[in-house]
Amino acid sequence: MHKIIALFNHKGGVSKTTTTFALGWMLAEKGYRVVMIDADPQCNLSGLVLGESLDDFYSSNPTQNIHAGLAPAFESQPRQIEVVDCVEVDSRSGLYLLPGHVNLSEYEVTLGIAQELSGSIQTLRNLPGAFHYFISKVAVANNADYVLVDMNPSLGAINQNFLMSSDCFLVPTSPDYFSLMAIDSLAAILPRWAEWARRAHTSETLRSAAYPFPEFRLKFLGTVIQKYRPRLGGATVGFQRWIDDINLRVTEKLFPQLRSYGLTFEEQTYTNAGCASAQNYCLAQIPDFNTLVATSQSHRTPVFALTDEMFGHVGSVLEQDQIKRTAFHGMFSDFADRVITLTSNE
Ligand SMILES: Nc1ncnc2c1ncn2[C@@H]1O[C@H](COP(=O)(O)OP(=O)(O)OP(=O)(O)O)[C@@H](O)[C@H]1O
Ligand SMILES: [Mg+2]
Repeated sequence: MHKIIALFNHKGGVSKTTTTFALGWMLAEKGYRVVMIDADPQCNLSGLVLGESLDDFYSSNPTQNIHAGLAPAFESQPRQIEVVDCVEVDSRSGLYLLPGHVNLSEYEVTLGIAQELSGSIQTLRNLPGAFHYFISKVAVANNADYVLVDMNPSLGAINQNFLMSSDCFLVPTSPDYFSLMAIDSLAAILPRWAEWARRAHTSETLRSAAYPFPEFRLKFLGTVIQKYRPRLGGATVGFQRWIDDINLRVTEKLFPQLRSYGLTFEEQTYTNAGCASAQNYCLAQIPDFNTLVATSQSHRTPVFALTDEMFGHVGSVLEQDQIKRTAFHGMFSDFADRVITLTSNE
């Protein structure tokens, strides 16, 4: 059975999309079948995978995206939600993308109303369970082991829905003050959302909907701290301060709060994965890619999978690139191993 992992932080620009792509690629490299869902109307993940051909892709494949897939429920079409074909990512077998669409944001308001009323209006009762029904169908059709959901930076209804119907979630962060603020607001909001999701599953109207809201089972996997300036194997002093503050805030505030609402695994599960409280539930600390980020985007390939030809360098510059690639490969491989351990321990 597949696991649905949401990458969520309402703070923008904290590497959610970059991490979805890199983790998806690494899991596929390790032999798992992975479907990445672009649930952000910005469509950055779709752009990263499909490149400049995104508009052409929509023209030639108008029904192959998340918005079109959900249309039967949201546009009251007289047909069931059906599976849509995913795109297989070039040069990485086992990795698939369900493309996003800018018009997904059109469903935000209706879904928000449907969720507020928890199904008390009959015509809206099929909406809260529709997202989960759809992506589960896509996962099964692709025989997926993992579904990674790249979310938009907001506390909107679509994020609430995707997150609350996932199996587990990761919180990508950047080492700065704004990410620290975001940890505080997540500690306040996630318990409220969890209470809503538990109610939604047991609500009589939603239970008898065409797409019932799934049982609540969300668990926190941990954080990723990304994009610090490296120095002698660690971070520079300024970045290290924010890393320490974020780690402390997660361990002392976010995690205990999530635990009291049943959103965490047993401590032993985190210990098995090497990311328990002593590691502040941090699954990976990844420095700035620097110039490699441009090469990675132009070749639509994560930094750790760039080939020597893609680097476009020779001699000692190429050697430096190769050293960095090996280091990033190790970091993302360890990160993926932790995710695998956590998700196989339920
Ligand atoms: N480790 C890294 N080193 C250098 N640049 C990075 C790193 N991680 C992400 N970036 C860059 O930072 C920017 C923001 O990353 P990304 O788009 O993944 O964040 P996001 O959280 O998905 O943003 P949004 O909230 O807008 O969806 C991008 O330009 C990305 O290429
Ligand atoms: Mg993004």
